[in-house]
Amino acid sequence: MRDEIINTLINQLQEINFKGTLAPHMYGETLAHPQIVEITDKVTKAGIKLVIYTNADYLTQELMDKLRAAGLYKLSISKHSKNLSKTSMEVLRGLFDKISDYKHLKIMDICKQINGKDIEIDGLIFKIVDFYTDFNTNKEMLHNRGGELDLELKKNSRPVGCSYVLYPVIDVEGNIVLCCNDYKGKHILGNVMERHIYDIWTDPNNVWLRNKIYRGSLDLQICQECVL
Ligand SMILES: C[S@@+](CC[C@H](N)C(=O)[O-])C[C@H]1O[C@@H](n2cnc3c(N)ncnc32)[C@H](O)[C@@H]1O
Ligand code: SF4
Repeated sequence: MRDEIINTLINQLQEINFKGTLAPHMYGETLAHPQIVEITDKVTKAGIKLVIYTNADYLTQELMDKLRAAGLYKLSISKHSKNLSKTSMEVLRGLFDKISDYKHLKIMDICKQINGKDIEIDGLIFKIVDFYTDFNTNKEMLHNRGGELDLELKKNSRPVGCSYVLYPVIDVEGNIVLCCNDYKGKHILGNVMERHIYDIWTDPNNVWLRNKIYRGSLDLQICQECVL
């Protein structure tokens, strides 16, 4: 996302006194962004809580120290492979060593124990979610991205009503798209470079659409094809 878009978004959120969380990713890898520390700093200084979702491939102790100094609120690791990167394992060892119950356990055993749970370590909220095991077993956690992915999902549960419309998802161009599964931006609610995020979010047409989907009228084609 261009600096101009990030800055516009942060300004708009400050204007409405937003104090919630912001996770700077859509389908990309958060820690691959060369300015992630600066973004963390800017967002935190604006009074917004910065949450990083990452596969942890690029996580090093040096980066972790910088992110924490910049005010990182939460780190959520999405485990997508059998093992985590060596450097991220070192970061986790350092974190878990701060908790006496975990000090003597192996990292992977701790990760299994806390899978999917938020835990607070030394002022940071930490989470690890094991998508790898899920992918190789039940495939319960995967979505087919509104029908875009040809995934062999064991479940076939078309949503009854959908809560994925309850928070704004913004793509790299500043478009607010229908939901996090609208990979191609098929349904754009507005663009933050053209209209204030608050006005887009509260636009009666957009509210009507989201309300309808939330309550279970999934007549858009993307929703018809969506498996969650
Ligand atoms: C798209 S990723 C982007 C952020 C970062 N690259 C990561 O891996 O966490 C955001 C979240 O979506 C999850 N995810 C990836 N593919 C998914 C899928 N097909 N269905 C549901 N969640 C998925 C990831 O595991 C991660 O927790
Ligand atoms: S049902 Fe529709 S709104 Fe909900 S996640 Fe799927 S595509 Fe998005």
